[in-house]
Amino acid sequence: MKVLQDSKALRTALSDFRKGDKGIGFVPTMGYLHEGHLSIVRQAKKENRVVIVSIFVNPLQFGPKEDFWRYPRNLVRDKALLEREKTDFLFVPALKQFYGPDFQTVVSVKALSQPLCGITRPAHFTGVCTVVLKLLNNVMPDTLYLGQKDYQQFRVIEQLVKDLDFPVKVRMAPIVRERDGLAMSSRNVLLSSIEREEAAFLYRALQKAEAFVRAGARDAAKIKKMMREELKFIRHGREDYLEIADAATLESVVKLRSGTKILAALAVFFGKTRLIDNTLMTVE
Ligand code: PAJ
Repeated sequence: MKVLQDSKALRTALSDFRKGDKGIGFVPTMGYLHEGHLSIVRQAKKENRVVIVSIFVNPLQFGPKEDFWRYPRNLVRDKALLEREKTDFLFVPALKQFYGPDFQTVVSVKALSQPLCGITRPAHFTGVCTVVLKLLNNVMPDTLYLGQKDYQQFRVIEQLVKDLDFPVKVRMAPIVRERDGLAMSSRNVLLSSIEREEAAFLYRALQKAEAFVRAGARDAAKIKKMMREELKFIRHGREDYLEIADAATLESVVKLRSGTKILAALAVFFGKTRLIDNTLMTVE
């Protein structure tokens, strides 16, 4: 008899019975798929024996005045795109079954959920954590794939999985962009043509931060000021936040210290549509 005291060792022992050599990769999404989603599916295909994608527009992560009902949906198209990528499984839970009428449990990660997107979306990450944990409990994958596009979401989920001992590896996939640099997002179709043009300045601001830091800038306030110069070209949108933060804690940084990893992140509202983007840098 093998006696195990450590939960990780216990799970490793059990998983030997459960999986083959390469395992199960899981890509959760809210659908209306674009190249950003599909690139994650491709990465997961390369690294796993089996890939499962979920499509579920999760009402829990939308605030009462947010765009849950407006969120774009097209399951027929999504299915065709996933077929083309040779996705092995698609999980599409039905809203009423997934959240029964007596549903009452939520999970949240405290500090990491508060800054950046947490300021205007106070309940957002609780909704994300709850649905992702629920999806993980259903799928039980070996590896969970999340995009850098939603970097705070990635950090929150990474922490959730660690804190609650969920036996899954969390991998981050790079941001896929349009030709003008705009990060791909299902919400981009909600923009008017002028808003869509101006949206390219989110990435311009991030590129400016990168160049400035590379050139030796270490004062976060000055870097933010430079970034805002680019955002001035946005006339049909308004800044939600613009931040230079520690990439691990997401806490605001004042002076950039060499050897540290930092995140430049921003969010801009175009009417009710809110776009986010970010870049990660290691300070030399
Ligand atoms: P959704 O916005 O559909 O994104 C699904 C996954 O695709 C996320 O991990 C996101 O970071 C990634 N992604 C989105 N745009 C990307 C881009 N341009 N390049 C690379 N990856 C990109 O994020 C969610 O759904 C939800 O919050 C979810 C995790 C499914 C929970 O409901």
